Amino acid sequence: MGSSEKVWVLALCCTLTMALAGSSSQYELALEDLGLSYDYKDALGKAILFFEGQRSGKLPASQRVKWRGDSALDDGKPDNHLQVKLVGGYYDAGDNVKFLWPMAFSVTLLSWAAVEYRNEISSADELNNLCTAIRWGTDFILKAHTSSTTLYTQVGDGQADHDCWERPEDMDTPRTLYKITADSPGSEVAADAAAALSAASLVFQGVNSSYSKKLLSKSKSLFKFADKYRGKYNESFPFYISYTGYKDELIWSAAWLYKASRDEKYLNYVVRNQGWSESALEFSWDGKFPGAQALLAQEFYGGKKDLSKYKTDVESFICKLMPGSNTLQYNTTAGGLLYVRSSSNLQYVTSSCMVLSVYSKTLMASNIDGIQCGPTHFSASQIKSFVKSQVDYILGNNPMKMSYMVGHGSKHPTQLHHRGSSIPSIHCHPSKVGCNDGMSMYFNSNSPNQNLHVGAIVGGPDSNDHFNDLRSEHSQSEPTTYMNAAFVGAVAGLLDETRGASATAAE
Ligand SMILES: *[C@@H]1O[C@H](CO)[C@@H](O)[C@H](O)[C@H]1NC(C)=O
Ligand SMILES: *[C@@H]1O[C@H](CO)[C@@H](O)[C@H](O)[C@H]1NC(C)=O
Ligand SMILES: *[C@@H]1O[C@H](CO)[C@@H](O)[C@H](O)[C@H]1NC(C)=O
Repeated sequence: MGSSEKVWVLALCCTLTMALAGSSSQYELALEDLGLSYDYKDALGKAILFFEGQRSGKLPASQRVKWRGDSALDDGKPDNHLQVKLVGGYYDAGDNVKFLWPMAFSVTLLSWAAVEYRNEISSADELNNLCTAIRWGTDFILKAHTSSTTLYTQVGDGQADHDCWERPEDMDTPRTLYKITADSPGSEVAADAAAALSAASLVFQGVNSSYSKKLLSKSKSLFKFADKYRGKYNESFPFYISYTGYKDELIWSAAWLYKASRDEKYLNYVVRNQGWSESALEFSWDGKFPGAQALLAQEFYGGKKDLSKYKTDVESFICKLMPGSNTLQYNTTAGGLLYVRSSSNLQYVTSSCMVLSVYSKTLMASNIDGIQCGPTHFSASQIKSFVKSQVDYILGNNPMKMSYMVGHGSKHPTQLHHRGSSIPSIHCHPSKVGCNDGMSMYFNSNSPNQNLHVGAIVGGPDSNDHFNDLRSEHSQSEPTTYMNAAFVGAVAGLLDETRGASATAAE
């Protein structure tokens, strides 16, 4: 490309991001001044847009996040002789490794949001974008499942990648392949991939039935692999170590398979193994029980009375979170944020909100007035209000008076711990920025990130509601796909609350 064109591209990419930031902050201020709710529609759209910034592979013409370019176009190469092609999928956080496990969890959460809040998301005109985000992940999972007993679970050497600060477009660290097989199984990951494909198959049911059927059949194959060759993933893969084992993932995937297929085989599986279910302390990429229990509690209310253990267990999880409950396990900060732990706390906030939101909806739809936590009763709307308080905290109602979503609100994180976002766009700065230059010039710099990664939610503040806007503080400033994915469901559940507010603000 000629140098005059380069200048033009530079101007374009910079003005585009600036424009987005400017318009949103004005809108936000107006809403706050009016004392109205936050703009959940804007937050939903941006939370979904974030996924385009996390894309690996060849970007389509419809790509809206313009600072990104094609990357990792040779992924799968070491096994090309086996016809393996692993281009695509998502980078899971601020790094350039593709970890299938959190990718699958993120896709399941996005699909769950689409299943539960289809009408709300459709009214907000975001259903197509959400389906596209889901499909970018499912297409990759389909590619990674190359035989009935093979699933590629990671592309990229985690250590080499973490020691290097490069844009994905420049990446030259080893793209090592990791896979699970009958001989070296990893039931957590195979089951999670099965859950993702079943959940997505529900989303595509009325949209693309051939794709939906394909997802369901591959989901069944993955579940069989996970269940028949039981083994812990952590033995050979130290980056994502499961502390909860694989029973939670097996129940989670069987619950999704039952929901997607209505095949009694999967219902019998969750009934037979309900002794595995326990009242968990968290819902996360590692621990799936609360999500599985919330799904199966819906079946309980739908008439499957032998699933009552799951209902009891999810209610006990909720009782551990709701302020004022006598079985409370986690405190909220002085500013009102659920606080689970210092490492990327907002991941637990958003994932808990997803479960609380779906559960309160289930209670309302079943005409149940709420849940009992010892002597204290919480109505479905009290549970939903707690979700709203957490979403509002993330969007700006907090002691720092800032939004924890990049590009939403007038003040938000500027030093996202994210390689691609911190280094100038390949379109503005085409020459390569190697590992060490990236580290010294951009990671160690005290300047704001070069590209606004619109929609990225960060790990969030500490237990004193304090946020260090520093790239090096990754537990506070790094985004992840599963945080954003859980937030999509949590904020979608609140969309009906802003209909009046948005109309007023738009006038
Ligand atoms: C449905 O999915 C298939 C892939 O399985 C794809 O080739 C086709 O274009 C999709 N159809 C529509 C209408 O999106
Ligand atoms: C895997 O997890 C088990 C217990 O959950 C533990 O005993 C073992 O040391 C772990 N292996 C690795 C490689 O971390
Ligand atoms: C919650 O806060 C109270 C009072 O500060 C403290 O005593 C308690 O240990 C905290 N609980 C948890 C689970 O952190």
